[in-house]
Amino acid sequence: MTEEYTPKIIGFCCRWCSYAGADLAGAMRLQYPPTIRIIMLPCTGRVDILHVLKAFEVGADAVFISGCHEGDCHYLRGNFQAWKRVARLKKVFTEIGLEPERVEMFHVSSGEGPKFAVLAKEMTERALRLGPNPVRVEARAVWLASMAKEGKPSTAPGNENALDSRP
Ligand code: FES
Repeated sequence: MTEEYTPKIIGFCCRWCSYAGADLAGAMRLQYPPTIRIIMLPCTGRVDILHVLKAFEVGADAVFISGCHEGDCHYLRGNFQAWKRVARLKKVFTEIGLEPERVEMFHVSSGEGPKFAVLAKEMTERALRLGPNPVRVEARAVWLASMAKEGKPSTAPGNENALDSRP
């Protein structure tokens, strides 16, 4: 994490599985980045596309939804509905020029604390690689400038300089 850019990541977690998995990771004293903010839900089926878009609107750099494993949803098909919404969001993001990797679906059970720690690290690494959400205009400009200074011009959306300098 650079000094200028500390990612903000929102995780919508089902109370029956992933939230308990996150709790277990804490109880096991597993290290994962403090970039994750968890919102507990009764089921991932409760997550609407608008909730995810709102998270990005208020400055999240990445969002994940983590629910029960396939076939284990306490409400039968909630995690399947969430998976379909994430797939739809990825498609929309691609169409509007946002990186689809900014949103992801995971399945973590209450006994999988280590898996939760791994996904928290993975989402943080992704957010670091992708840079600030373009809605965070100032943070993104600072990040793009620091990337250019380090000789690593990004071709991510919003980096017109990198696109202009292509041969
Ligand atoms: Fe966990 Fe539905 S109850 S995803």
